[in-house]
Amino acid sequence: MSLLEKLENRTATVGVVGLGYVGLSLAIEFARAGYKIIGIDINDEKVAKLNAGRSYVMDVPSDVVSKLVAEGRLVASSDYSQIANMDSISICVPTPLRSKSKDPDLSYILDAVSKIRKHLHAGQLVVLESTTFPGTTTEVIQPILEESGLSVGKDFYLAFSPERVDPGNVQFQTRNIPKVVGGVTEDCTRHARTLYGNCLDRVVGVSSTDVAEMVKLLENTFRSVNIGLVNEFALLCNSLGIDVWEVIDAASTKPFGFMPFYPGPGLGGHCIPVDPLYLSWKAKVNGFHPRLIDVAVQVNQDMPQHIVRKVREALKPLKKDLKGSKILVIGVAYKRDTDDVRESPALEIIHLLDQEGAKVEFSDPFVRFLQSNGSRLSSRTLSEKELAEADCVLVVTDHTSVDYELVARHAPVVIDTRNALKDFSGENIHRL
Ligand SMILES: NC(=O)c1ccc[n+]([C@@H]2O[C@H](COP(=O)([O-])OP(=O)(O)OC[C@H]3O[C@@H](n4cnc5c(N)ncnc54)[C@H](O)[C@@H]3O)[C@@H](O)[C@H]2O)c1
Repeated sequence: MSLLEKLENRTATVGVVGLGYVGLSLAIEFARAGYKIIGIDINDEKVAKLNAGRSYVMDVPSDVVSKLVAEGRLVASSDYSQIANMDSISICVPTPLRSKSKDPDLSYILDAVSKIRKHLHAGQLVVLESTTFPGTTTEVIQPILEESGLSVGKDFYLAFSPERVDPGNVQFQTRNIPKVVGGVTEDCTRHARTLYGNCLDRVVGVSSTDVAEMVKLLENTFRSVNIGLVNEFALLCNSLGIDVWEVIDAASTKPFGFMPFYPGPGLGGHCIPVDPLYLSWKAKVNGFHPRLIDVAVQVNQDMPQHIVRKVREALKPLKKDLKGSKILVIGVAYKRDTDDVRESPALEIIHLLDQEGAKVEFSDPFVRFLQSNGSRLSSRTLSEKELAEADCVLVVTDHTSVDYELVARHAPVVIDTRNALKDFSGENIHRL
């Protein structure tokens, strides 16, 4: 039976490499569609949890995992020789930035692809899902896979399909988010479209892997630039004594040509702070110097310093300095109602406050512990006493389950970076 037939009639064994937020959610959708799934991850703890039927991703319930594992439709492993048993392989490993240079760090992709190459055989489909700069699939991955002696489009198929999952979003999840797919050849696109089309509500084919890679970067750079614009508006409104939130709400009544974005304490997560830098890096390598993208990155990166300045100013009337003041940070996850602290602006803000000699505590219903400047902080339970004892309360993430009325009533000073206290007023409340 050809690969296309196996993909069409769901007898193909589908592999997912990298079982994190993206990979595990995708593996579940493949399994739900009837494919047998083999997942590979280098993290033995995750592999053991999955094989025991337990999920470690908030949007994936453990009972879904345990049912699939019990039925033998989902198996996790750290053994790359399993690649030989797969008909298709979707790669969902991290694509961070290098810590010093802030250049793209493709080491996880390179590691995964080199290991895949060792077990690659004719009649397989490989799809890269990790967000990366245009050219990665054909300039980086294809040559490595072809070292096997197999040719793309002839012996095996290669495509790029950007992941668009939005953790914590209850309306749009992996299955009902349209999936963009671009193959190296038309045949590659056809194979990838067949697999994803059997699992997800809608697949959008594009003409090349470069286009598919660029689609994701446009989407996330669009967010970065618009958030940068609105952050600049917030600073401008601050200097003019205008409430930026009221401005945005009123502008949002325009039924066309305007889409609201909201200011905040800085960008967080794996995507928006990272992806524009992948694009900017590639552009510069090719001699194009993007301006708007880099300025937006800078404006967004400066927000934590701005927040710390606001805390300092708010303490002044109380004749207090940052040094020695007790600051209670509410919400440290990078976004509302999730437990993900990766790249969270709260980490940078806590670090800056710490450097200034403030005594920082945090409260987050989703995050129990936080590593900061070598010490481990535990989440505090919000209470009247806890709030009243703080010199300043700083709302960084607006989790919906937090009792903001309690905060508004008992915190001596609140800096609200998310407009979470919009229903309350008082001289103690300072908005971004
Ligand atoms: N999290 C999101 O909301 C999101 C959304 C869209 C796109 N993305 C992109 O998807 C990709 C994956 O992101 P994520 O959030 O799932 O990351 P993650 O860190 O949650 O998961 C990645 C997994 O890959 C594993 N891994 C690392 N190297 C490996 C290797 N060589 N072989 C096998 N497994 C390996 C890690 O152990 C981890 O479990 C990134 O490129 C990210 O930018 C993420």
